[in-house]
Amino acid sequence: MSVFSSSRLIGKTVLITGASGGIGQATALLFAKAGSNLILLARREEALQKVAEQAAAAHKASGVVGGGKIATIKLDVSNIGAVNNLWSQIPQDLRNVDILVNNAGFVLGVERVGSISEKDIEAMFQTNVLGLIAMTQLLVKHFKEQKSGHVINIGSVAGREPYAGGSIYCATKHAVRAFTGAVLRELVDTPIRVTEIQPGMVETDFSVTRFRGDKSAADKVYEGLQPLVAEDIAEEIVWAAARPPHVNLAEVYVLPVNQASPTLNYRPGKQ
Ligand SMILES: NC(=O)c1ccc[n+]([C@@H]2O[C@H](COP(=O)([O-])OP(=O)(O)OC[C@H]3O[C@@H](n4cnc5c(N)ncnc54)[C@H](OP(=O)(O)O)[C@@H]3O)[C@@H](O)[C@H]2O)c1
Repeated sequence: MSVFSSSRLIGKTVLITGASGGIGQATALLFAKAGSNLILLARREEALQKVAEQAAAAHKASGVVGGGKIATIKLDVSNIGAVNNLWSQIPQDLRNVDILVNNAGFVLGVERVGSISEKDIEAMFQTNVLGLIAMTQLLVKHFKEQKSGHVINIGSVAGREPYAGGSIYCATKHAVRAFTGAVLRELVDTPIRVTEIQPGMVETDFSVTRFRGDKSAADKVYEGLQPLVAEDIAEEIVWAAARPPHVNLAEVYVLPVNQASPTLNYRPGKQ
């Protein structure tokens, strides 16, 4: 029997940012299989629509009775005004959100300090930090009224240990870690759960975005070792959400077996 066949997720409503690809997409599909309802957010409407169709098919194929309602909302989380207006765009029957997965995020470039563009610095902070905070503020308010809820933030190995060529991204993910830790502490007297998932190398479009569309540069990141895939992180997210209500997985640090830190790895397959 799959560990994900927990009835605890049936009929729960899960809001996922950055659901149009990578980890967000895999997470949407796994929650759909588990019988949850979904609110999927991202900037690319068409890609989001495709994920919604895949999620509907995954829910149907699972045979789980309950859940399966899916809404998509085009939203750039870096637009704080739009985040603050999000509630009115959520269909009435999905406003009882139970789980927020703050997944939208990215890294741009490997430039060293002194040569990093203001535009890239702002873009990373605006999405990875300010967008995540705005989403959390909105949903925690709702979770407090509802007297239940779960915030799941996607941090990173880069939020635990900085590395050269990643100063801004590392700073954003350290901010996510600090923010998540403070929220965990603030909500200690509530039933609301707070989790941070900290992935190591996951092969998604993440590195393609970092290298501004250069796929061969992105492929080199994973050369000679077996990286994580989006589904590996989705499993951790869904696992955390499916724990009994009195159990809070506060931090989940997930690495490929041949990675030990942002820069320490072993590449058995490299010539
Ligand atoms: N891959 C890794 O190695 C790795 C490791 C540690 C942590 N992470 C974290 O995992 C999360 C997901 O990354 P991924 O690996 O799945 O990368 P990905 O495949 O590039 O997916 C990123 C997702 O975020 C969305 N997104 C980006 N900016 C957004 C914004 N301003 N508003 C709304 N959505 C936005 C993108 O959708 P649109 O373009 O459609 O908006 C896309 O769906 C990120 O927070 C990343 O920092 C990744």
